Amino acid sequence: MPKPILIDLVSDTASRPTQDMRRAMAEAPVGDEQRGEDPTVNALNERVADLLGQEAAMFLPSGTMCNQVAIATHCRAGDEIIAAEGAHVDGAEGAGAAVFAGSFVRRIACGRGIFTPDDIRSALRMRHAKIPRSRLVALEQSNNRGGGSVWRRDEIVAVVDVARQEGLALHMDGARLMNAVVASGEAASSYTALLDSVWLDLSKGLGCPIGGVLAGSRAFIEEADVWKHRFGGAMRQAGIVAAAGCHALDHHVDRLAEDHDNARRFAARIEQVPGIVLITSPVETNLVFFDVGGTGLHAEEIGARMLRQGIRLHVQSDRRIRAVTHLDIEAADIDRAADALEQILTG
Ligand SMILES: Cc1ncc(COP(=O)(O)O)c(C=O)c1O
Repeated sequence: MPKPILIDLVSDTASRPTQDMRRAMAEAPVGDEQRGEDPTVNALNERVADLLGQEAAMFLPSGTMCNQVAIATHCRAGDEIIAAEGAHVDGAEGAGAAVFAGSFVRRIACGRGIFTPDDIRSALRMRHAKIPRSRLVALEQSNNRGGGSVWRRDEIVAVVDVARQEGLALHMDGARLMNAVVASGEAASSYTALLDSVWLDLSKGLGCPIGGVLAGSRAFIEEADVWKHRFGGAMRQAGIVAAAGCHALDHHVDRLAEDHDNARRFAARIEQVPGIVLITSPVETNLVFFDVGGTGLHAEEIGARMLRQGIRLHVQSDRRIRAVTHLDIEAADIDRAADALEQILTG
């Protein structure tokens, strides 16, 4: 029998809804979402639109669907999307941009996933009938593969300026947007209001079981609604899950600072272990990537030995591992996980 996972650092999607969240879900007033009659979904949409400084928003079942609906709304077949190498829209959505919108990603190589106006200019295509059309710039806040790195407001403004000059639309994947807000102290709307589309994931650091909310201008959301229906993302009494989102916005935002403290605590401990090199340095939010190439053990083997002690990490290659902190992880769990890793590698 496999040992139960006691400390799950595989992703911030691992957290379970709290009792209070479950209660809020059970008590939510609901209606037919597809007909615009679910009061809880409508309240969540209004709240997120306001939070992100946008005119309107729509509740969707997942972050991936938020990205795909936005891309399909912005792009036509043959269009190109400029994004950081390793972006979720590029490598982790089953090539959805190509499948649904006939569009593809032009990657910018940048370690932390934060690119510059010059990077965009170099990625831009010449305007010519035989050349693909650059159409959309996609940012990830925080950037997952870049180590939970946070786009500063001035970096976003600089990218917005060049995109506007070049007639490109701007989209933000906000899978961990509230982590960035808490880490930087910068209100989301101070930069998300400048974008053409942006979404917030509810099922990661915010601790909900399901859902994301995509925001934009009223015209954008009206057009996106067509894609929401095409993808089968229009729901019925969805207020039962939207209620978790409202609850999370009330109770689970400020506490993200604890997840960031725990991620730093874990990094500080494992950095001392011979052979481990932190890839995420400094730790900005709740993700810690590290390289175990110098330990003499394959990452897979380290992951398996940790799992035998009930601790799960995300093994990403033969030497790269990710640990993610979240609502269900406490400082004591971090100490246990760090102790176990140290013992495996030095004991
Ligand atoms: C940066 C980023 N974007 C999008 C997603 C997709 O979100 P979902 O799992 O809700 O579809 C993820 C999920 O891990 C992510 O990390």
